[in-house]
Amino acid sequence: MTDFWSTFDEPAGSTATATVAPPAPAAVPTQPRPTPAPSTPTAPAPVAAPGAVSATGLGDIDRTGGRVSVSDKSMINARADVNQLLPLKYTWAWEKYLAGCNNHWMPTEVSMQADIALWKSRDGLTDAERLMLKRNLGFFATAESLVANNIVLAVYRQLTNPECRQYLLRQAFEEAVHTHTFQYICTSLGLDQGELFNMYREVPSITEKDAWALQYTQSLEDPEFRTGTPEADQAFLRDLVAFYVIFEGMWFYTGFAQILSLGRRNKMVGIAEQYQYILRDESIHLNFGIDVINQIKIENPHLWSTDFQAEVRGMLARACELEIAYGRDTMPTGMLGLTAAQCEQYMRFITNRRCAQIGLEPLYAAVDNPFPWMSEMMDLKKEKNFFETRVIEYQSGGGLAWE
Ligand SMILES: [Fe+2]
Ligand SMILES: [Fe+2]
Repeated sequence: MTDFWSTFDEPAGSTATATVAPPAPAAVPTQPRPTPAPSTPTAPAPVAAPGAVSATGLGDIDRTGGRVSVSDKSMINARADVNQLLPLKYTWAWEKYLAGCNNHWMPTEVSMQADIALWKSRDGLTDAERLMLKRNLGFFATAESLVANNIVLAVYRQLTNPECRQYLLRQAFEEAVHTHTFQYICTSLGLDQGELFNMYREVPSITEKDAWALQYTQSLEDPEFRTGTPEADQAFLRDLVAFYVIFEGMWFYTGFAQILSLGRRNKMVGIAEQYQYILRDESIHLNFGIDVINQIKIENPHLWSTDFQAEVRGMLARACELEIAYGRDTMPTGMLGLTAAQCEQYMRFITNRRCAQIGLEPLYAAVDNPFPWMSEMMDLKKEKNFFETRVIEYQSGGGLAWE
């Protein structure tokens, strides 16, 4: 059996530049684009010609059209029936769907007893650790919902490929599991629900991040929004960058490092175990988003213009600044083995890594990874018993070979 994780990005200093191997030229025939009408990103697309493919999959059935050919399937601006999964074109999307299913877990299967005892003890946690924990949980508690809403209400409609949609459906469920995790932690520890779930409104460093990302999904929220013009297609790409590369691929990683650092010191080991499972899920979400962006670039090279690349680099630079500010706000005095300065270095390292993965030049001079142990945290088989909690081998039977 091949090592599944070897196929995925690890934030541990790998120098791979992209997870998507460009397909053979014949696999992605270039098609004439619809004549781009001058329009804003929210302008409706030209009226569909008779026999045009329904982008949602809910249009009238084309009774006279031919059968789906792999070469007709596309990431955006459907050219083939989006209701027909087979024949598969993007096997990377299907493989991630299978991987997500194999990684199924539920937060309630992780014991919180040690965490409850530590949280309620007088001296078990320092004030700095308590502040970090609450602001960390406060960010994630609503971030998972923002990501889920973006997938279901913005991305799904515009991504016109059935194997990608199959993965989105799996990802949407995983985001529900993650939100469930924060509900479970909140009730287990007896935290103030109102305080935790309002931090995205009431803690400025969290509000700044969420408000920045929301502007990119809001531009797609108009019910009349359709891809099909360069401007609209780029608006969709911006949303994919904001949520997959930045929200899930940058902003979650400070939070993972903070909690897993505590876990390495045998503190809040139940939450740390849950974060390990979330990190494993999010690594696939991130890599799916990167594959989607790179595949759209391959199929629509005119979208990835010099100006647009500069704009995307600017997005990552701004996102990195917002995350550094959040790191300082969650750890103003630092903790044993973890400081805001280290988190800043880690975020610059991660930002450079994300630039490379979508084919952009790095934003910062060479940065070393201050948390090389993070990559080990993703390999749950290797790190079994790391936190000395009850560890379940969360690999279901979906990957069993029959021969
Ligand atoms: Fe999530
Ligand atoms: Fe996610």
